Amino acid sequence: MPHLALEHATIAYGRQPAVQDVSFHVASGEILGLFGRNGVGKTTCLRALIGQLPLQQGRVCYDMQDISTLAVHRRALLGLGYVPEDRRVFGRLSVRDNLNVAAKQNPNDGTGWDLARIAALFPELDSLMHRPAGLLSGGQQQMLAIARTLMGNPQVLLLDEPSEGLAPQLVQRIQRTLQDLKAGGIAMILAEQNLKMCFALCDRVVLLEKGRVIGQYTVDELREDPALIMRTLGIGA
Ligand SMILES: Nc1ncnc2c1ncn2[C@@H]1O[C@H](COP(=O)(O)OP(=O)(O)O)[C@@H](O)[C@H]1O
Ligand SMILES: [Mg+2]
Repeated sequence: MPHLALEHATIAYGRQPAVQDVSFHVASGEILGLFGRNGVGKTTCLRALIGQLPLQQGRVCYDMQDISTLAVHRRALLGLGYVPEDRRVFGRLSVRDNLNVAAKQNPNDGTGWDLARIAALFPELDSLMHRPAGLLSGGQQQMLAIARTLMGNPQVLLLDEPSEGLAPQLVQRIQRTLQDLKAGGIAMILAEQNLKMCFALCDRVVLLEKGRVIGQYTVDELREDPALIMRTLGIGA
């Protein structure tokens, strides 16, 4: 059962630690929320998990293995998939080529994701396969960013603010997809500032403030403690 954990992580840009002594984990079929306002360290944690940033202290564990020093592509081959906040699709390449490039970078054994399965998950993309990705709408690009990561056959999907900049209808559309993926057994870590999205999707939520974990809560616990949420959002106390 794949299990991804960040353990007592301190991560710095230069001298200043952006994240200090942060620990959390996610298991198969579970969605963990990383919630907090701008600058608390959500992206930093995700980038450390996939190997884009080194840890000053602590470790990254996957499936009982310490993977803290593995390169990005090695972690991808083990099953970590990352959907960055800025989506980073190849604007001049067609939708299909964006997907094929991702499949080539991380080939799977034929039992995983292919174009047909992507088209079934995102019928919206099926009719746009030949369109340059740069001409897609924001919502379509977000779907493509998720689809492209799926082509690498991830067991754990790390999503950085997938709802950002999308109209409410599209946010719900993305939510439904993530629910389907969860039902298929993929574990997810969802960095979000969108509380509704966290409530709709997450099993547990880690609250971050100024690079530290305030606590980990179930969605029910959070619903019952509005003051805690206000604090995390920097409103009121
Ligand atoms: N490339 C970088 N260089 C220097 N500081 C950075 C860089 N990226 C993020 N930071 C700092 O690290 C802290 C955490 O940022 P980030 O992880 O992006 O937060 P979030 O994703 O929660 O908005 C912030 O203080 C931010 O200014
Ligand atoms: Mg961020």
